[in-house]
Amino acid sequence: FSAFLTDSFGRQHNYLRISLTEKCNLRCQYCMPEEGVQLTPKSELLTAQEIITLAGLFVKEGVEKIRLTGGEPLIRPDVVDIVGQLYKLEGLKTIAVTTNGINLARLLPRLKEAGLNAINISLDTLVPAKFEFIVRRKGFHKVMEGIHKATELGYRPVKVNCVVMRGLNEDELLNFVDFTKDLPLDVRFIEYMPFDGNKWNFKKMVSYKEMLDTIKQRWPELEKLPCEASSTAKSYKVPHFQGQISFITSMSEHFCGSCNRLRITADGNLKVCLFGSSEVSLRDHLRSGASEEELVQIIGAAVSRKKKQHAGMFNIAQMKNRPMILIEPALMSF
Ligand code: GTP
Ligand code: 5AD
Ligand code: SF4
Repeated sequence: FSAFLTDSFGRQHNYLRISLTEKCNLRCQYCMPEEGVQLTPKSELLTAQEIITLAGLFVKEGVEKIRLTGGEPLIRPDVVDIVGQLYKLEGLKTIAVTTNGINLARLLPRLKEAGLNAINISLDTLVPAKFEFIVRRKGFHKVMEGIHKATELGYRPVKVNCVVMRGLNEDELLNFVDFTKDLPLDVRFIEYMPFDGNKWNFKKMVSYKEMLDTIKQRWPELEKLPCEASSTAKSYKVPHFQGQISFITSMSEHFCGSCNRLRITADGNLKVCLFGSSEVSLRDHLRSGASEEELVQIIGAAVSRKKKQHAGMFNIAQMKNRPMILIEPALMSF
């Protein structure tokens, strides 16, 4: 594995998240303020060609999985083309997307044909009216249609991301577990994390332990499933259910020790940690004509500065970071 993508703690970064846009067609309360955020001018965002060039470098150095995120990646008009170009990169095994699902049913046949092979969909409630409250827009049925379409087109499992917030959707845990009964889903309950402007508050976070207790009361026979060391999720299954459930314990049990992720923001900055404020502009180096070798050196230097772990959940809440939407609404990589 490339020395450039190995940090000083021996972590090998073979998973790259690329944000395709800062824009989103929803306004989830935990991600984005109602009025939106100040968007970077288009000329400062990576072009499709720049994305492919950078992705190619990372894949050459050992990246095997690329996840496209946003904002909402499926509102970028050239998303199908980008997936198709990524598909041609030799050595890349997985092209994934994290989407809010609104445009999914419509685009999925073309995305699948272009080479997309994994899908995570955000859905925080199974109640249509509550959906509109949380995301401040309409679209519940479109998201549901997207989830069903993904299962029909053979994606296994279709991951559903549910950010659990006290007083808002914690009462739906058991309904989400039931949602996995007849569908090949992995419903992932996510601990609510603090980002600039999302009004995070410790009391609103429901911990992994608390969620698990609630679910075990109803399903004492819940089975723990084995998981990969670098996974953000701890998975369980109700025996005989088609799907499974997982917990993403970003707050209560961080997974920094096995972190294998890097991310590129839509404006072309490399972020070695989701919660870090240090960033390096790959776009500027690319546009000023840096050679492939120089870019790899720059990336390697940033990776080698990666910290052992994030600052801890209390400190994160105080930290200066981008709002989630400007990182990508699918955090990753303490
Ligand atoms: P898989 O590749 O399918 O495992 O997806 P993922 O969980 O890595 O990514 P996804 O975009 O579905 O994000 C789901 C949740 O994972 C986010 O809400 C975050 O809570 C969490 N997450 C993703 N990446 C990181 C990370 O680097 N650090 C932390 N702490 N959390 C992350
Ligand atoms: N805490 C936890 N998860 C979040 N996401 C967005 N903002 C937060 C937050 N503050 C989730 C979205 C999406 C994933 C990429 O990140 O639900 O599924
Ligand atoms: Fe949009 Fe996703 Fe943020 Fe919701 S969480 S506002 S869907 S980017």
